[in-house]
Amino acid sequence: MTPAGEISAGYDLAALQAALQTKALGRSVHYMETMESTNSAAMTLAEAGSADGSIVLAEAQTAGRGRRGRVWHSPQGRHLFCSIIYRMDDRHSTWLSWIPLASALAAAEAIVQTARLPVLLKWPNDVLVSEKKIGGILCEKVGGQGQSVVVIGIGLNINCDHTDFPSDIDGLATSMKMEYGRSVNRTDVIAALLNRLEIRLDRLRLEGVSETLAAYVARSATIGEQVRIMLSESEYIEGLAESIGPDGCLRVRPQSVPSSEGDPTLIEVRSADVMCVRKLTAIS
Ligand code: BTN
Repeated sequence: MTPAGEISAGYDLAALQAALQTKALGRSVHYMETMESTNSAAMTLAEAGSADGSIVLAEAQTAGRGRRGRVWHSPQGRHLFCSIIYRMDDRHSTWLSWIPLASALAAAEAIVQTARLPVLLKWPNDVLVSEKKIGGILCEKVGGQGQSVVVIGIGLNINCDHTDFPSDIDGLATSMKMEYGRSVNRTDVIAALLNRLEIRLDRLRLEGVSETLAAYVARSATIGEQVRIMLSESEYIEGLAESIGPDGCLRVRPQSVPSSEGDPTLIEVRSADVMCVRKLTAIS
């Protein structure tokens, strides 16, 4: 653990502590220049008993992980790679499926707060600016039954230029610097992120899902759009993304059903079953 007060390459940990308005999140910081994956490190720390709200922060990851086993491009110094250990009371584990969505919402709010960018969310938990990905969330449950610990992994593209992205994601990804026109202080971003995330998690825990659902839908780039939901390389559902269900699922009204068959049934899609969601532009 890096003591508060120490300046670590790109983060000022004393300034971070001073800017935090949280009770738990970020009060203990495990910082390392390079890690395989902050999520893997946080899972190990959680199993060893690290406190609720502890965070793992790195400048670079050598094996950063994205959803569904994808690689998360994690070069040195210009991005934000953070994992948060969140310990839940068993009574609150009903909100488990909302944690990735609430985390994406907190990330969006932190970006708005620090750079006033117009941020939208692509279901389930992609953070977008100008229709390009600026961040992603990977939540992983620690341990088995009886343990309610989740590691919330957040990756945000902060001060990189488009030449920093590998060719397969160039054009699909953006950064705060690219959108804002100048560099952004990463300590300010992480402080805002942790402040917003604690508010979002407390609200879910104490008030239930309704305000989070409304705030999520208000920032959604998916609801109201015709979409293709890829379930595998060859299997997909197409239709109108109509709403978000009370468990965070996406409700899709399929198209191309003959009118004689009546109103097409609403399909509920869960994030764990989805490879990716694509917006369909022209539908004839
Ligand atoms: C996605 O959109 O596929 C999710 C990406 C999550 C990346 C973050 S970076 C910090 C944390 N550590 C990891 O290995 N992954 C997450």
